[in-house]
Amino acid sequence: MTINLHQIKYYLKHYFTAKRSGHGVHSPFAYQLCENIFHHQDKFYDFEELKKIRTQLLNNKTEIIVEDFGAGSKTFNSNKRKIKDIAAKGISTTKQSETLYKLINFLNCKTIIELGTSLGLNTLYLAKAAKSSKVISIEGSKTLTDFAEELAKKNNITNIHFVNAKFDEALPTLLQKDLPDLFYVDGNHTYEATLHYFNLALERKGNSSVFIFDDIYWSHGMTKAWEEIKKNSSVTLTIDLFYFGIVFFKEEVKEKVDLKLFL
Ligand SMILES: C[S@@+](CC[C@H](N)C(=O)[O-])C[C@H]1O[C@@H](n2cnc3c(N)ncnc32)[C@H](O)[C@@H]1O
Repeated sequence: MTINLHQIKYYLKHYFTAKRSGHGVHSPFAYQLCENIFHHQDKFYDFEELKKIRTQLLNNKTEIIVEDFGAGSKTFNSNKRKIKDIAAKGISTTKQSETLYKLINFLNCKTIIELGTSLGLNTLYLAKAAKSSKVISIEGSKTLTDFAEELAKKNNITNIHFVNAKFDEALPTLLQKDLPDLFYVDGNHTYEATLHYFNLALERKGNSSVFIFDDIYWSHGMTKAWEEIKKNSSVTLTIDLFYFGIVFFKEEVKEKVDLKLFL
């Protein structure tokens, strides 16, 4: 991933102000998340296997043609890309994917919607985190959707429903059918699109829904969208991990909390 000045400025801010443990976190729910997920060092059995798949992708020199969607890419300047380059620069890191896994596993999410499948490695983490869950993953590029579908098949993972469509086209219908426990947005990183997806999903949220927005410091627009999401009156708790922001709506959290954590 190419780093820009906006990201450096906010990374430094995060580095110096974010909490490094659950110490001093007053909300019992937020404290529980810190203890059981964010600052919990235990490794899961699945992590080794998923790391092996990542290594295979990082060594895969196959070239594919990828259509650009949404905000486009700051990393690639051609549509012809090697799998290994997408795996190195265009998908969630091990730490990010493992954090998502731990969150889903702890909260026992049953229905998960992911916007932005790419190679589908992160989708495998989502699917393995709660084996009885249903993961719906949307991707605009047909080449990537086919690749991800094949990757899941090769690894005998059957609880993913891949959708090849633009987010705007697929999301309203999907949200009518499925109320997501976890709604994860990792694509089309513009201010307008991010707020649009947030507002669409907001109409279908429940008390225990969790929304996650990736790359909240990718650009001014993304940071502005994140600040507005945090201020929404139905949001009771937000957790900013720098690389993504997590949003909760639990009514039990009586006093609004905006936490920044350094992992
Ligand atoms: C950052 S990648 C997703 C990475 C993946 N979630 C992970 O963590 O490894 C974003 C993906 O979203 C897709 N995308 C972006 N905007 C889109 C849109 N409006 N409709 C459909 N797909 C889109 C891109 O093609 C790209 O593959």
